[in-house]
Amino acid sequence: MGAQDFWVVIIVVGFCFQAQVSSSQNLTCNPNDLKALEDFMKGIETVIEGWGNNLSSNCCEWAGITCNSSSSLGLNDSSIDTYRVVKLELPKKRLAGNLSESLGMLDQLRTLNLSHNFLKHSLPIPLFHLPNLELLDLSSNDFSGPIPADIDLPSIQFLEISQNFLNGSLPPSICNNSTQLRALKLAVNYFTGDLPPGLGNCSSLEDLCLGMNTFTGGVPEGIFRLPKLTRLNIQDNKLSGQLSKEIGTIPDVFDSLGRLQYFVAHSNNFSGRIPLSLASSPTLSLFNARNNSLEGSIDLNCSAMTSLTSIDLGSNRFDGPIPSNLPSCRHLNNINIARNNFSGQIPESFKNFHSLSYLSLSNSSISNISSALKILQHCQNLTTLVLSLNFWDEELPADPTLHFERLKVLIIANCRLTGSIPQWLSSSSRLQLLDLSWNRLEGTIPVWFGNFSNLFYLDLSNNSFTGEIPRNITGLRGLV
Ligand SMILES: *[C@@H]1O[C@H](CO)[C@@H](O)[C@H](O)[C@H]1NC(C)=O
Ligand SMILES: *[C@@H]1O[C@H](CO)[C@@H](O)[C@H](O)[C@H]1NC(C)=O
Ligand SMILES: *[C@@H]1O[C@H](CO)[C@@H](O)[C@H](O)[C@H]1NC(C)=O
Ligand SMILES: *[C@@H]1O[C@H](CO)[C@@H](O)[C@H](O)[C@H]1NC(C)=O
Ligand SMILES: *[C@@H]1O[C@H](CO)[C@@H](O)[C@H](O)[C@H]1NC(C)=O
Ligand SMILES: *[C@@H]1O[C@H](CO)[C@@H](O)[C@H](O)[C@H]1NC(C)=O
Ligand SMILES: *[C@@H]1O[C@H](CO)[C@@H](O)[C@H](O)[C@H]1NC(C)=O
Ligand SMILES: *[C@@H]1O[C@H](CO)[C@@H](O)[C@H](O)[C@H]1NC(C)=O
Ligand SMILES: *[C@@H]1O[C@H](CO)[C@@H](O)[C@H](O)[C@H]1NC(C)=O
Ligand SMILES: *[C@@H]1O[C@H](CO)[C@@H](O)[C@H](O)[C@H]1NC(C)=O
Ligand SMILES: *[C@@H]1O[C@H](CO)[C@@H](O)[C@H](O)[C@H]1NC(C)=O
Ligand SMILES: *[C@@H]1O[C@H](CO)[C@@H](O)[C@H](O)[C@H]1NC(C)=O
Repeated sequence: MGAQDFWVVIIVVGFCFQAQVSSSQNLTCNPNDLKALEDFMKGIETVIEGWGNNLSSNCCEWAGITCNSSSSLGLNDSSIDTYRVVKLELPKKRLAGNLSESLGMLDQLRTLNLSHNFLKHSLPIPLFHLPNLELLDLSSNDFSGPIPADIDLPSIQFLEISQNFLNGSLPPSICNNSTQLRALKLAVNYFTGDLPPGLGNCSSLEDLCLGMNTFTGGVPEGIFRLPKLTRLNIQDNKLSGQLSKEIGTIPDVFDSLGRLQYFVAHSNNFSGRIPLSLASSPTLSLFNARNNSLEGSIDLNCSAMTSLTSIDLGSNRFDGPIPSNLPSCRHLNNINIARNNFSGQIPESFKNFHSLSYLSLSNSSISNISSALKILQHCQNLTTLVLSLNFWDEELPADPTLHFERLKVLIIANCRLTGSIPQWLSSSSRLQLLDLSWNRLEGTIPVWFGNFSNLFYLDLSNNSFTGEIPRNITGLRGLV
């Protein structure tokens, strides 16, 4: 064995020995990561539980920290294996203070979850340049100021900063370098400006939640073309224009909304008709565009909309008759189309509306309460019925064959109805809420009201009832 061979043996043995030592003793965290976390701690005004005075220098043992060995991460930047911080998770820890820029030094970080704390002031820019970050959740804090304009998070999948005090506009190139982004949640902040067309480049996006801000302008068409989008919430903004332009051929539009399940756009200034793409979506389950200025007829293609369970299109400018084809949307159970300009009567077809459980049609200029109740009594699953501000001056029918066994909530207020409390109502023994206020009902309040053992709210005010209030109503235990 020559001298050269001898040294090779020494080096190889030495290397193996060292490797063995490294894996048998607990590795401590990388000094740069330790420094970053110490600086993070300095910005926090409160005690971080589990990061007490007895802090070991091994930050991997601190509460909320997860480390992986640099070798397991495929790093070999130094000869000594160290542990790298890959997760920092301290949600709901009552942390107050500033978020240190130093967290931007944690270049191996995959998960940062500091949601539900009291962190304030600006979002540190370096956080938005972490190459390995997959999940960033800073929601429910007190952060203010803008979102950094240049976001470079190539690994990000979940970006959640809802419920803060952030303002300014959304960065136009929010998805330039974030092609993996699956959930973007920025609701309940003070963002302004138009929604950037660049959102249409977030091609992995499944969940987009921008509700309760002050966004203006239209919805970029690209959003409706995101191939994986299943949930879109843009409620409570100042968005306007058409909900979606009909562009391209119809099959194109179907494709683009191929996965949308939840579409919540209420309380904006949208106008125009319901886009065909939404009105014939086979995946859409919840459609809520209440409180806008939509118009025309509600024309849903029920044979295509096989997933639809809930529509809320109240407080718009829809007109024409109440859509008689709704019962053929087979899973539709919640309908609010109150406060529109409908006219006419409840369609005869509603007799077959067996899935219907909630119906609100108040303030819709509909007439013929006798016919309405005769039809709706056939809806086997109907539990909530709201018909206020219709049937002007009609008589509440006394027809003894009416029956509504399953009703839990009945509201027919503000109709100036004449007549008296009908006997048929006694069959609704599951009633929890009954509101017949602001009518012109006469006669007495029946003693059988005492049988409504689930009743917790009863409003009979502003009528012309006579006689005594039955004593045993006071025996109803739930009544508040
Ligand atoms: C390594 O960590 C384990 C569990 O965390 C502990 O039981 C053990 O004593 C540690 N070993 C050394 C050498 O610190
Ligand atoms: C350090 O303090 C924490 C509580 O803050 C305690 O649970 C832990 O056992 C302490 N560790 C040592 C080594 O004293
Ligand atoms: C960390 O190590 C564990 C166990 O070796 C492994 O399952 C996990 O994928 C690693 N995480 C990362 C981010 O490399
Ligand atoms: C480790 O570093 C050496 C020298 O810098 C390089 O040749 C080797 O490919 C690296 N190995 C890995 C797995 O990155
Ligand atoms: C937190 O940030 C604000 C504004 O940037 C600054 O005025 C304040 O001194 C900082 N507080 C601490 C404890 O660093
Ligand atoms: C962050 O932590 C909270 C509390 O444990 C959890 O509810 C939330 O889902 C986490 N965020 C993400 C994006 O997983
Ligand atoms: C996106 O990545 C490219 C290449 O890595 C980089 O030049 C560019 O600045 C990044 N964009 C943003 C918005 O940071
Ligand atoms: C954001 O809010 C701060 C005060 O918190 C204000 O000074 C700033 O002008 C606001 N920026 C925008 C774009 O509204
Ligand atoms: C984002 O991409 C668009 C289109 O490729 C480009 O015009 C823009 O400059 C990019 N923005 C940034 C900040 O890189
Ligand atoms: C989306 O990305 C493509 C390719 O990078 C680019 O050509 C296009 O301009 C981008 N669109 C927007 C609105 O940023
Ligand atoms: C009626 O309601 C029950 C219980 O919620 C449900 O299982 C059933 O499918 C409903 N019927 C129809 C026709 O939707
Ligand atoms: C109230 O009186 C009616 C009729 O007499 C009776 O059926 C009912 O059980 C009484 N209810 C209560 C709570 O006493």
